[in-house]
Amino acid sequence: MCGIIGYNGFRDADKVLIKGLKRLEYRGYDSAGICVIDKKLKIYKDTGEISKLEKNIPSFKGDIGIGHTRWATHGAVNKINAHPQLSDDKKIAVIHNGIIENFKILKEDLKNKGIKFKSQTDTEVIANLIKYNYKGNLENAVYSSIKKIKGSYAIAAVCEDEPDKIVGARNESPLIIGVGDNENFLASDITAILKFTNRVIYLNDGEMCVIAKDEVTVFDEKKKKLDRQEQMINWNFKDAEKSGFPHFMLKEIYDQPDTINQVLRGRVSEINRNIEFNENVEDLLKNGVDSINIVACGTSYYSGLVAKYHIEQFTKTPVIVEFSSEYRYFGTKNKNSLVIGITQSGETADTLGALREAKKSGCRTLVVTNVTGSTATRISDAYILTQSGPEIGVAATKTFTAQILVLFLIALKIGVNKNEIGPGELYKHILDLKELSRIVREVLENSNKILDIAYLLKNAKSIFYIGRGVNYPLALEGALKLKEISYIHAEGFAAGELKHGPFALLTKITPVIAIVTKDSTYDKMITSIGEVKARGPQVISIADEDDIEIEKYADFVIRFPSNTRHLSFIPIIVILQLIAYHVADMKHCSIDKPRNLAKSVTVE
Ligand code: AGP
Ligand code: GLU
Repeated sequence: MCGIIGYNGFRDADKVLIKGLKRLEYRGYDSAGICVIDKKLKIYKDTGEISKLEKNIPSFKGDIGIGHTRWATHGAVNKINAHPQLSDDKKIAVIHNGIIENFKILKEDLKNKGIKFKSQTDTEVIANLIKYNYKGNLENAVYSSIKKIKGSYAIAAVCEDEPDKIVGARNESPLIIGVGDNENFLASDITAILKFTNRVIYLNDGEMCVIAKDEVTVFDEKKKKLDRQEQMINWNFKDAEKSGFPHFMLKEIYDQPDTINQVLRGRVSEINRNIEFNENVEDLLKNGVDSINIVACGTSYYSGLVAKYHIEQFTKTPVIVEFSSEYRYFGTKNKNSLVIGITQSGETADTLGALREAKKSGCRTLVVTNVTGSTATRISDAYILTQSGPEIGVAATKTFTAQILVLFLIALKIGVNKNEIGPGELYKHILDLKELSRIVREVLENSNKILDIAYLLKNAKSIFYIGRGVNYPLALEGALKLKEISYIHAEGFAAGELKHGPFALLTKITPVIAIVTKDSTYDKMITSIGEVKARGPQVISIADEDDIEIEKYADFVIRFPSNTRHLSFIPIIVILQLIAYHVADMKHCSIDKPRNLAKSVTVE
């Protein structure tokens, strides 16, 4: 897990690489480095953020080079272990995203052949393996080397003796080629190169590429040349900018009215009074969906839990939601069930592993992702794009909203297919959905009160989030957002569970955030709040504007617009995101890049 960028063209390579690394920093950022070919391989690397690297880096001449932001898996975070890693003769430089599982055996073998190692990384083994196999042609040496390594990798290699090319290869880690005019790029993801081009070629597992200035060549696993078409990406550079917001996360929270429109566009038709997906998806949702397994990690897992409530409510179809890392090894793979993988990045190793296992067992697979061309889209039977544009903040916000909305549409669609939802009911949902973007805009425009609440929470040592029904996974996600970016301990609970254990942790100084909606469990929620209050803590309630009762029970109330009916989960999540953001901001935390976390976890 890390970011990779390669450039071969007419610009100053160091500048292009640093720009790209800044865009990739969200993938991992404990150290970073670049290599530019200026007759010799010129390398600069350091620990810490890219801004530090940028400040101290000497200016390198040269229009070809590679750059890396690291998220260490093998070896401590220090300059020596940062990438690029060099072969022992200093002629070959390699950057790598992933884990080489057999690196110890390979390292021993190379050591026995007299090769000296400096770092503790698995990556240095690749550099030396390439050097060992090098006989005047870099792609041949890379090809022979990748045949020897086991594990996951996206690599980019350059060689001092062939200063006109970069060689890339991938297996289970993302790598794309950016195509320009008289310049070409290699990158872990599109955001790194969006400033320069939106023409992209996706590499598949086992493939290799050679990036020259005026040409890119892709090879398959047998080193046969492939004819690969470019694809145009419709994200634009502005989408990956902060646009005046102090943090990407805040910008992405404020993007959400547009995110909602993007999700609904082309899928929810007021005229046809229908929910429409592309043919592959429609087929999957039509044919005998008897049970559903949802696999995902982190925030995407919580969106699966939200979906479980909707799918079971609208379709009477049982849904099991599992962490990908558990399902992969222990989940029941019933070939009559539909497996839905949810992954913002489309590259999370655990989720890809779970989907592959599901497929092997004959299950049908559907993916909900934000990234066109990502690995998840290519290993599943069908996929739905959340169309949220790039999300740079490590903490997922707008993509979570897009996921739960897409999954809500899936629930409605299966409900219609199973005759559990009639045309009248569907039309009501469609009309509500059309109001959603406006409702979220209203929440954002009236969010001042959340600053006061954040002020109240910022010194807490521990915070509880509680809810029932669909508000329970929202409580989990609200707590996760707060933990990730403010480092305050927080837990989400199903409100009915408090008395079965968590009450033991509750003290007067544990604020409780209670999500209360006017549904069949409203009275039970009020009882839960009463039980909490009896133990002394302050209760902050998130409640409907029309709920006049709630003020009697809660100490503070944050309101969301009334009449949101089944869709209240969307304004509520926006409020929870804003709480987490403002608490973290008041604590001066590193909001977009929280410690120890990376945006996309491409290792197991
Ligand atoms: C969300 O805020 C987290 N950064 C994390 O839990 C994330 O949702 C998880 O790693 C899954 O990522 P994915 O959606 O890209 O698969
Ligand atoms: N395994 C390599 C290392 O520890 C690469 C990690 C990464 O993907 O950043 O250096």
